[in-house]
Amino acid sequence: MKKVTKAIFPVAGLGTRFLPATKSVPKEIMTLVDRPLIQYAIDEARAAGIKEFIFVTSRGKGALEDYFDHAPQLEAELEAKGKAQLLDVLRDTNMDSGAVAYVRQHKAMGLGHAVWCARRLVGDEPVAVLLPDDVIAAETPCLKQMVEAYQETGGNMVAAMEVPADKTSSYGILDVKEDMGHMVSVKGMVEKPEAGAAPSNLAVIGRYILSPQVLDNLNATQVGAGGEIQLTDAIAKEIGTEGNVYGYRFRGQRFDCGSKAGFLQATVSFGLARDELKDEFSQFLTDISNINRAAE
Ligand code: UTP
Repeated sequence: MKKVTKAIFPVAGLGTRFLPATKSVPKEIMTLVDRPLIQYAIDEARAAGIKEFIFVTSRGKGALEDYFDHAPQLEAELEAKGKAQLLDVLRDTNMDSGAVAYVRQHKAMGLGHAVWCARRLVGDEPVAVLLPDDVIAAETPCLKQMVEAYQETGGNMVAAMEVPADKTSSYGILDVKEDMGHMVSVKGMVEKPEAGAAPSNLAVIGRYILSPQVLDNLNATQVGAGGEIQLTDAIAKEIGTEGNVYGYRFRGQRFDCGSKAGFLQATVSFGLARDELKDEFSQFLTDISNINRAAE
């Protein structure tokens, strides 16, 4: 079985839920504490053994592309001032020459289309897909957990988590064939099912390991739910084939940083997890909730 060494990062979306900020700031550059969302996804991919990073970008995402350039002037200045710790922080974000590739999605036609745009850079091997607005706090990074499980199963794998019944219409939902605990085999997938029509409450979130067949399927996929080319439909075509589809219940907490509420929750959680911030920040949160309670 071929190893997973390539990852696609679809970052070409319009990010309309964060307007007006996303008029000029790509959503994926917005910062959680002090790191852009994309950095969390890159770190997770690196920890899973990814060596080639493919970004699907679009008009207005220049800041994102610049982010991956080295910053020799800044490095020299930090070095001259003896700021070794900051220098380490900066150097940790450096990417090897040739490890990063960009393709453009000329129009925001959905996630499936964005992944399809990267097909020529992927070739005949499995590929991971990470949506940077899904940030996952986990002891073992989520994609690493999946790559380890994938070594046993092969095929196609999607990260899955239980969601409340009234939220299933916001996700791709798995129809479970066999539940093996951390892993389920899948007999169907429905993108954003109508209320009451979900086959389970196991939702797909933004981490995937896909076989080359899924990229082929995207070639032939018609516009699906919401007028977009749906990745779910192309993955679902592999059900029952030799490739098969598995859902992986990852260990960790996922934050939907594509929504304002999710981004704020992630900010609080990641802020509290930082040694240098937690005392001051938790005191502030206690004070503010006391003030709010008193005001009620
Ligand atoms: P979202 O569904 O969050 O869409 O995309 P969006 O456009 O970014 O944000 P809203 O809904 O307008 O606020 C999930 C991921 O898929 C990428 C996005 O950049 C994001 O990382 N995406 C989405 C694309 O690359 N191309 C698309 O056409 C759509």
